[in-house]
Amino acid sequence: MIRTNNITFSYTEYEKTQELESGDMELVVAARETALNAYAPYSKFRVGAAVRLESGAIVCGANVENAAFPSGICAERSALSNSISNLPHDKPIALAIAAMTEYGLTEDPPSPCGNCRQVIAEEESRSGNQIRIILSGKDKTLIVKSISNLLPLQFNRNNLKISLP
Ligand code: THU
Repeated sequence: MIRTNNITFSYTEYEKTQELESGDMELVVAARETALNAYAPYSKFRVGAAVRLESGAIVCGANVENAAFPSGICAERSALSNSISNLPHDKPIALAIAAMTEYGLTEDPPSPCGNCRQVIAEEESRSGNQIRIILSGKDKTLIVKSISNLLPLQFNRNNLKISLP
């Protein structure tokens, strides 16, 4: 039998940053401030990511570029590497992303690249928690409840048929 299936996903859209609840607003501000620390001399596209952990702590990361382009790292992976390296048992529950060009914050909410989506998916598997992802543009913000909304039919440890601690 042949069947065509559809995958749908939902996201919440906020027209203005001020409409966010205070914890999310705080995370967005942290992501925006961290974007200012980006090392992005090549693209001049500065990205900041802020991870909220179960304890309430916030861990941030920015994109760090390199003259050998593939050696650079995105803000999302920078932030998650930071939180896993320093607070491995404190699980991420949310991740905010903000980006700016030389003209300021991007109008469009920044969306994580495929590589970062895969890394966020791994962190959901590792922690067993869903991670809310907050994509924050200058005014507009989009929120999804889990990376599965941005990475359907994902490859993860279940595909390897192994169970890890
Ligand atoms: N970048 C991020 O930090 N996160 C993304 O999800 C997309 C792209 C960075 C990588 C590079 O330093 C710059 O933005 C331009 O692609």
